[in-house]
Amino acid sequence: MDHFTYRNRILFCDDVPVPALAEKYGTPLYVYSKKTLQHHLKQIQTAFKTVDPLVCYSIKTNGNLHIARLMVECGAGCDVTSGGELYRALKAGCPAHKIVFAGAGKTDAEICMALENNVFLFNVESEGELSAITAIAESMGRVANVALRVNPDLPPKTHAKTDTSVKGVKFGLDIDTVLEFAEKVVKNPHVKVVGLHMHLGSPILSVEPYRQGIDKGLVLIDKLRAQGHQITLWNMGGGFGIHYRKNEALPASAFAEVLVPGIQKAGCKLVLEPGRFIVGNAGLLVSRVIYTKDSGGKHFVIQDAAMNDLIRPTLYDSFHRIWPVAPAQGFAAPPEDFQVENPRTRKCDVVGPVCESGDFLAKDRYLPPLKRGDLLATFSAGAYGMAMSSNYNGRPRAAEVLVDGNGHQLIRRRETYEDLIRTEMEC
Ligand code: LLP
Repeated sequence: MDHFTYRNRILFCDDVPVPALAEKYGTPLYVYSKKTLQHHLKQIQTAFKTVDPLVCYSIKTNGNLHIARLMVECGAGCDVTSGGELYRALKAGCPAHKIVFAGAGKTDAEICMALENNVFLFNVESEGELSAITAIAESMGRVANVALRVNPDLPPKTHAKTDTSVKGVKFGLDIDTVLEFAEKVVKNPHVKVVGLHMHLGSPILSVEPYRQGIDKGLVLIDKLRAQGHQITLWNMGGGFGIHYRKNEALPASAFAEVLVPGIQKAGCKLVLEPGRFIVGNAGLLVSRVIYTKDSGGKHFVIQDAAMNDLIRPTLYDSFHRIWPVAPAQGFAAPPEDFQVENPRTRKCDVVGPVCESGDFLAKDRYLPPLKRGDLLATFSAGAYGMAMSSNYNGRPRAAEVLVDGNGHQLIRRRETYEDLIRTEMEC
């Protein structure tokens, strides 16, 4: 469910016509719907209500302070993966006791910062990291609460670049050997192993991996308890998929049906780290057609959003629905199936101005006729869109706007050329 709808062949976000936003703020422009953000967080909170989970919004997905603050105001904590994200979460007003700190390569400085701020939990990914946290906590006279992040070694379940629970990826502790070194810290006064962490991958469109993860986790928790660890938390990470093509995603309740009984059986508090599920369908990228051209048997729509604004299509071959913001007469809402040729549509590659053949938002897409100046909407771009953007090819980053009802607020201004050189030393 989202709040992007076509009314009389004009795309609206809530009650605001998207062309008015493009006019006011320029393009490329990220547009987010506040109600959609709240709706998706609420869906998770409601689905898992029976176990009163700590839902930590995964800041890496879209770290804009206004979005993070909204999540915090709606009761979420934050999942951070670096000192920078910890800084951001605190700036967004997240209480430290609701912050979980993930990441395979936490530096000493980041560990110090997290301990100084009393974060709730470290998700630990290696024996070296556990030693570092223990030593730093000791030197500061602190006690660190940790969850052991295990790699449960499950079958592939999503794109190879974002599958984190198959053998051979850098993430987590090997499930076969984790007990060996968990044993070594049972009596350590500066580190308490209080939880188990598993993030299976992202995006996941089936409950099966979660079922398998729960089965393996239950066995492991028993063994950790037998060693003497007081395991009270089970962090299942994020990963819930969203609608990119059509309605392929599962509701949060489907994941809850599988996870809740397992968590209850373990007698643990559930922690979740959702990102994409909350913000993915809540954002779109608006761009403007600069030129169209025919070349080498293809029709190209060259518009002003590029791989530096949204890298997902070229990095993961990911599919984003694209449709004109104000489609011509005879074309209303986007079609059910984008792969099928619609009457009077034209097969296009939607590309940007960056100097790489890999700079595209879509390939072989059937779109209504487009001309210079037309606006396009790239849907489901709220997650890992702006967060993964760059200045490649000297392109200032896009602006971001948050829509609520018939109001809208600029939540990140468009970068300027001056911004592009701001951090470089004068010459
Ligand atoms: N927790 C951990 C430990 C993670 O590594 C991630 C995502 C999440 C939570 C949040 O997962 P989500 O709920 O958003 O699925 N850039 C890629 C996705 C990378 C995911 C990284 N980790 C993409 O655009 O598809």
